[in-house]
Amino acid sequence: METVKLGILGMGTVATGLINIIELNNSKIIETINKNLAVSKVLVKSLNKKREVSLPQNVYTTDAYEVINDKDTQIIVELIGGINHAYEYIKAALNNKKHVVTANKALIATHGGELEDLAAANGVKLMYEASVAGGIPILNTISESLAANEFEKIIGIINGTTNYILTQMAESGLEYDQAVKEAQRLGFAEADPSSDVEGDDAAYKIAILSNIAFGQRIEIKNVPKEGITKISKEDITYARELGYNIKLLASAVKNDGELELSVHPAFIPAEHPLSTVKNEFNAVFLKGNAVGELMFYGKGAGSLPTGSAVLGDVMSIVKNSQRDNTEIKKNDRYKIADKAFKPYYIRLEVIDKPGVLAKIAGVFGVHGISLASVMQRQKNGNNTAPLVFITHKAYRKSIDEALNEISRFEEVTKVCSIITVENFK
Ligand code: HSE
Repeated sequence: METVKLGILGMGTVATGLINIIELNNSKIIETINKNLAVSKVLVKSLNKKREVSLPQNVYTTDAYEVINDKDTQIIVELIGGINHAYEYIKAALNNKKHVVTANKALIATHGGELEDLAAANGVKLMYEASVAGGIPILNTISESLAANEFEKIIGIINGTTNYILTQMAESGLEYDQAVKEAQRLGFAEADPSSDVEGDDAAYKIAILSNIAFGQRIEIKNVPKEGITKISKEDITYARELGYNIKLLASAVKNDGELELSVHPAFIPAEHPLSTVKNEFNAVFLKGNAVGELMFYGKGAGSLPTGSAVLGDVMSIVKNSQRDNTEIKKNDRYKIADKAFKPYYIRLEVIDKPGVLAKIAGVFGVHGISLASVMQRQKNGNNTAPLVFITHKAYRKSIDEALNEISRFEEVTKVCSIITVENFK
């Protein structure tokens, strides 16, 4: 039986998962692809580290080009992450006529089109199912099983770290900083969590999803993003009282020939299926014009789940499947909109005295913002009181303009929060 050789760049969590699945499910894999899989070379940072996989010591190398140029290796799996080195290595591998499988969302979101072209020019494949939502097979599903649909919207919880942090704030009463520390202790958050908590990771993923689903080239700078660093326990408590949960959503919604992309924290109705997605889990909710609403749920990160997605791509290449499931599109089918026309939750801190509410409500009125509800709670210790508004749909620009004016009132001590309300209507 023929043996297909894999070269792996990087030996972290996902590579460990990949190698362990090859061992764990070996007979199933052989039955499916009718070939053996073997790891020929692995790029590592240090040759001396003890590893949780049983590979012979002579496969390890600290020279990436020993992996990429190995003449017996047919498939290169890039798992080092980051952009610069990964970009150079993948280009070299494709030019060497080796198929490439990667989990690298930052790279695919920024250079995917060019790398796809290079793969096509060399007659090889570039696949990246693992780059979005880890173990959830969403890219292949959208491009293959759901190919008959025009998509109306894709809304995802596609960052497990932030979902874990928000869930712990809501359910264990942790402050933001405590929840981040707990996420780090459990290995969900990196020592520097900024790419997750600032929304960059989710922005890369929604850009890739949009490209596959809408056939639209997305430049990452066109994805407006806001992370979760300003979310406080108070907002989470108000959200729950009002019948919502706060989640970091990544969305791509088509409207009147325009496509609106965004990564932002949002109030989600407690009864919506996305509200039930807790801790490190991910989910992608979408609507196709034929299939209707669907939701995919699972682990968006981790050794075996992400390894499963990587190995699925590897096996698809070995089977020489004709599917072209993850082809970066270069079209500009839609105008990219940034209107953010939604209901908003707004929390202010104000001096508690007669006439303040009327003054504030007047400014909202002048800016064409209609209020759906107003809530005032007991005073804080310093004669101030929290004032919470939910608006009807309004443009974010109008909300910002109104709040700019409102913040100048001497009775308004603080504009604490502005959070989108996602009612799925
Ligand atoms: N850091 C990501 C997350 C996983 O927290 O979901 C890799 O994209």
